[in-house]
Amino acid sequence: MTIEKRDTKDELGAAISDRLVTEIVAAQRDRGVAHIVLTGGSMGGLSLRSLPGATGVDWSGVHFWWGDERFVPAGDGDRNDVEADQAALTALPVPAENVHRVAGPDEVTDAEAAAAAYSAAIRAPKPGDGMFDIVMLGMGPDGHVASLFPHHPAQRAENAIAIAVHDSPKPPPDRVSLTFECLNRSRQVWLLVAGAEKADAVAAAHAAGADRWDVPAAGVHGRDDTVWWLDSAAAGKLPD
Ligand code: 6PG
Repeated sequence: MTIEKRDTKDELGAAISDRLVTEIVAAQRDRGVAHIVLTGGSMGGLSLRSLPGATGVDWSGVHFWWGDERFVPAGDGDRNDVEADQAALTALPVPAENVHRVAGPDEVTDAEAAAAAYSAAIRAPKPGDGMFDIVMLGMGPDGHVASLFPHHPAQRAENAIAIAVHDSPKPPPDRVSLTFECLNRSRQVWLLVAGAEKADAVAAAHAAGADRWDVPAAGVHGRDDTVWWLDSAAAGKLPD
């Protein structure tokens, strides 16, 4: 586990997006392709801002995925992919088929069908093979990551890649989320956290014996590394 701390949210976003470019280049050098999982929230946009100006990336060999998506129609401002489009994706020469969006109610009947289609895309031999290079996750003040909320039964999904989540405590209520099982097959998991309102959850996730049922962020780990990207405010309650 690594902690990367920066003074401000702005500096944090710059450091994350610069590192993301470095990791994409490294993944392409090693494996020819990079599979990157994006997050919503305000850190989601910040994490992408170095991408349009990046050099040395073969964008035809980059795939984008999402850790979760709100089950609302394509183009809805509540969708995480709309934010990513606006932050960077529309400015990148990435083939549309490399941008793996979660279907909304305009395409499929329910979130279960969207989760099944998304799971199939992840499982397909090439795209992904079920393993991502970098998974970026924002964290809510309650410690939730993707759409895995504290004390929510969706956390208990087993033998699943992506699942439907209903009755989300944060609107909108219907969502699709990757499972812990899927997230934890990734090479690196990055938690992107800024703000004093997150400090308690950051400290709880790092406490000895932290339980993901109470603090979902405590339950995500990369195979190679788990990186907590924190601004000073979010890191404020960690022991020195
Ligand atoms: C949600 C949230 C969530 C978001 C975190 C962090 O609806 O579940 O949007 O996914 O990523 O709450 O958000 P910030 O990066 O804005 O703090």
